[in-house]
Order: sequence, then C-alpha cells, then structure tokens
Amino acid sequence: MSSSKSSSMPAPHRLRTGLHHPVLRTWQSEAEVTLADIVYPIFLTAPRDAKEEIAAMPGQFRLGVDVVVDHLAPLVAGGLRALLLFGVLPDDACAKKDGTASYADAADNPVMEALPLLRNAFPDVLLITDVCMCPYTDHGHCGIIENEYVCNDASVARLAEIGVSYARAGAHVLAPSDMMDGRIGALKDACIAAGLEQVSVMSYSAKFASAFYGPFRSAAKSAPSFGDRRTHQLPPGAKRIANRALVRDIREGADILMVKPAMPYMDLIQDAAAQSSLPVACYQVSGEFAMIYHAAAAGALDLKAGVLESLTCLKRAGATILITYFAPQLVEWLGSSE
Ligand code: PBG
Ligand code: ZN
Repeated sequence: MSSSKSSSMPAPHRLRTGLHHPVLRTWQSEAEVTLADIVYPIFLTAPRDAKEEIAAMPGQFRLGVDVVVDHLAPLVAGGLRALLLFGVLPDDACAKKDGTASYADAADNPVMEALPLLRNAFPDVLLITDVCMCPYTDHGHCGIIENEYVCNDASVARLAEIGVSYARAGAHVLAPSDMMDGRIGALKDACIAAGLEQVSVMSYSAKFASAFYGPFRSAAKSAPSFGDRRTHQLPPGAKRIANRALVRDIREGADILMVKPAMPYMDLIQDAAAQSSLPVACYQVSGEFAMIYHAAAAGALDLKAGVLESLTCLKRAGATILITYFAPQLVEWLGSSE
C-alpha cells in the first residue's frame, strides 16, 4: 500500500499492522459478549396484573404473576436464556413483613407462584432465584435481628429453608445475596437432604457494601430501617478478605461464584477466575445501569457502544456470566428473533 520508506522503526514495535482490518481486530480481541452470557434480573410483585415502571430504573418494571410471561416472551424468543428473580412486596402489603421473613416462601409469594409458571412457559430458560430476607423483613435487614445485629446462624437456618422452598417451586439455581457466613454449605446440605439434587448455588461471594445499590433498594423496597449492611457486606477497599470469601465459598461447594458490583471491582473478577475452575458471574448492579443509562440519555455517550464495551471488558477481566438490566436492549442488538 504505502509510503514513507525512510522509517527506521523496527517491525516488532508496529502494533498497527495487526489492527488494520475488522477481522484482525476480532482476532486481537479475547472477549466477545453473546446472549448466552446474559442474565436478566426481574422484579415480581402483587397484584397479579401489576406492571409498574421503576422510577429509579427507567425501562425496568415490577411485574405481577399474570403479566410476567407475556412481558418476557419476546425476549426469550429473541434469545434470552437466564433470569434472576427478585420478589417485592407492594406498599399496601407491608403487614406481611415480619422478623423472620415468613412471606419469603409463602405459597402466594410472587416468586413462589412465578417459578412454576416460568418453567412451564419457557422450558429452556434457566431460572435463578435470589435468596435473601430483606424484601420481607419488617426492618429491611437481610437476616434475623437481635439487639440490632444480624444474627448469623439463625439467619442461615432460615435462608436455607427459603432456598429449599424456591428449589421445590422450580428454581434451577439459588443465589444467596445475604452475606451470612456458612450459607453456601447450609444451602447445599439442605437441598441434598431434601432430595433436590438438580439445584445449583450461585454465591454472591464477593459482595461489597456499595452505593451502587441505591436504585435497587427503591425498586425492591428493601432499604434497612436502621443501621446499614456493613456488618456483613465487604468494605469497597477490601481485596484480601474478598479473596477469603471466594475461597471459602468454593470450599463450601458453590457451583458458581459472583462478584458484585461489577465495573469498579474487576480486580476481584480476575481473582475469582484465577483461583478456581468455577464459572464466574458478575452483577452490573442498578447503580451501574443508572450511570450508563443517564450518561447516554444526557448525550454524553452512545448507549449501545457503552453497554457493549462495559460488558466486553467484564468478560475480558474473567467473568463468563453477565447479570445486567440491559438484557432487553442486548436482545435487540445481539439477538436473532424470528
Ligand atoms: C439484597 C440485594 C441487593 C441487591 C441484590 N440483592 C441490595 C443490597 O444488598 O442492599 C442489589 C442489586 C442491584 O443494585 O442491582 N440482598
Ligand atoms: Zn438482602
């Protein structure tokens, strides 16, 4: 092709010779996002015909059990393969909240009701269920409280019970987000003891006490009424104890590890991938969604390019499972609907 013959730059310094064609650029890239990587978190609520857009999370809804299948059908047809289910109590049902999160696995809980419906409507979709107490406790904490402290062992016992109920109702994967010690082993043992062999546990292993959960807490109405989650969620600067949590959960039998939030914690994603042979998930949380969404809405960046770049880089860091609220857009951008 070209030009200036007099250059003395040696060939090994020339990286651009490997970048000048789109196919070459694909070959240079070690990570590519596909729909098979994507998990879509959804919020289930009452009444049965509810479809409320969540103000803090534009384009995301709290859905009733009677509308969720229709809402998701185009996404599943377009190639979405995994869902992460959260339950939310409507404001007029606060009386159902109590100290032990009894409503978490009540027969008329929207997650309990949606699981068999979704299994039936979408037989090929993987159903992951968040396991925590905070949407159902009267104080909004993730476990059982005594003297304003989340008691570890009593909470673990109740969480294992809730997990078994979700598995019986049809969950393929249990994802405990509470951060109590020993819950992975307890959930695995409880499932085996209940004869539920076809259930995986995806551990929120490295979960940090993050400001990026803000929109979710308003979506799930699960903000604590006193105190915070700092006696069990990790400090943002904590790398070594985050690694201990990953190793501990591997030893307790986790099937999948998770790092949460995702983008500010990529070093932990890399650590999780490096120190085990387990699949690594990362959760691009509500605040990360809001950050990208609002930046694009303000014209600061292109939504599609920004979302795809953020997820590609999470894969490059070592995640193979991407939990993201941008799933509907990704189906549009990457899917193949008939
Ligand atoms: C609650 C839970 C939270 C999220 C998932 N499960 C919030 C919290 O720990 O307070 C956050 C998800 C998001 O921000 O998208 N156990
Ligand atoms: Zn919780």
